[in-house]
Amino acid sequence: MNLGKTCLIAAALMALTGMAMGFYMAAVQDFTLAPAHAHLNLVGWVTMAIYGLYHRSQRGASGRLRWVQAIAGALGPPAMAGGLALLLTSPAGSELHKRGEVTVIAGSVLAMLSMVLFVVVVGRDRVRGGGPGAGASSHQDGAQLEGSS
Ligand code: HEM
Repeated sequence: MNLGKTCLIAAALMALTGMAMGFYMAAVQDFTLAPAHAHLNLVGWVTMAIYGLYHRSQRGASGRLRWVQAIAGALGPPAMAGGLALLLTSPAGSELHKRGEVTVIAGSVLAMLSMVLFVVVVGRDRVRGGGPGAGASSHQDGAQLEGSS
């Protein structure tokens, strides 16, 4: 499976969900979910699309670390947005509110982990002479990237 394309598909799904949430808020004139909508669009659609474009620029480079980075990036924003939605629509102190908090924390940790791993992946690619457009089609973690930047 192509990593860049998978990231872009995940990003587009989050954009669709985030935009649908925006339409819903506008239709019912209730903006309670605005923070959930904003996080799904910005941390989900925008950030994930940038990850996807970077991975695609590596010409099919894959490997465990890149996949862990992308999966954490794909799971974090929906958990953040879903948790925020629970938090914002339930009474403070209720069981649902507490579940929302825990879900937001788990989602934020995943989103942060994904960004930390992204920094590691990009830094490692640069050290190995990779960078946008410089990956080998069969590249795996631990293998040398072709070309230099
Ligand atoms: C069909 C597309 C979209 C619709 C219908 C939509 C709709 C909305 C609505 C109704 C609000 C609440 C406004 C208010 O509180 O007065 C909002 C807030 C916001 N939207 Fe969107 N939106 C869309 C796409 C996007 C995208 C693509 C992004 C970012 C990439 C985005 C980022 C934000 C942000 C940052 C806020 C402010 C959140 C806050 O104040 O907590 N939106 N949007």
